[in-house]
Amino acid sequence: MTKSEKYTAALREIDIRLSKGGDLYADLGNVTAVLKKRFPYIFWIGFYLLQENRLVLGPFQGTPACVFLEMGKGVCGTCANEQKAILVSDVHEFDGHVACDPNSKSELVIPCFDSDDRLRAVLDADSDQLNAFDGTDQTGLMNVADKIRGLWS
Ligand code: SME
Repeated sequence: MTKSEKYTAALREIDIRLSKGGDLYADLGNVTAVLKKRFPYIFWIGFYLLQENRLVLGPFQGTPACVFLEMGKGVCGTCANEQKAILVSDVHEFDGHVACDPNSKSELVIPCFDSDDRLRAVLDADSDQLNAFDGTDQTGLMNVADKIRGLWS
């Protein structure tokens, strides 16, 4: 399977999970579980939820992580501030990167909006390999973010 086909399969599985879901935290947890299971180069994946102008750790898969992240700081905070995807090939080259786990070497963060285009969260994928993510991952995770818009309605 190509990477793009893997994302198509992951989206299908997420669709099925969401159709049997109905609770925000449980549904977001299942989204992270599907992605972690299908993409072995992702060693940590999770949501940081926008709450009172800061990011708070939500459902995730992987090692323990920072609970609060400031808007505008680190990769997640910059993604939330700029409301656009950020792909970092080498986290050591990203000024202000927040190292929750020293094994993180590359990272992809996607903004998640609700059906009214309000920012609700960011989806953070981390790898212990350098340069693990590419445009296909970015498109794939943006499609995931699109699929979950309705969870906040
Ligand atoms: N590296 C992120 C922080 C979150 S953790 O890696 C799980 C950042 O710079 O925002």
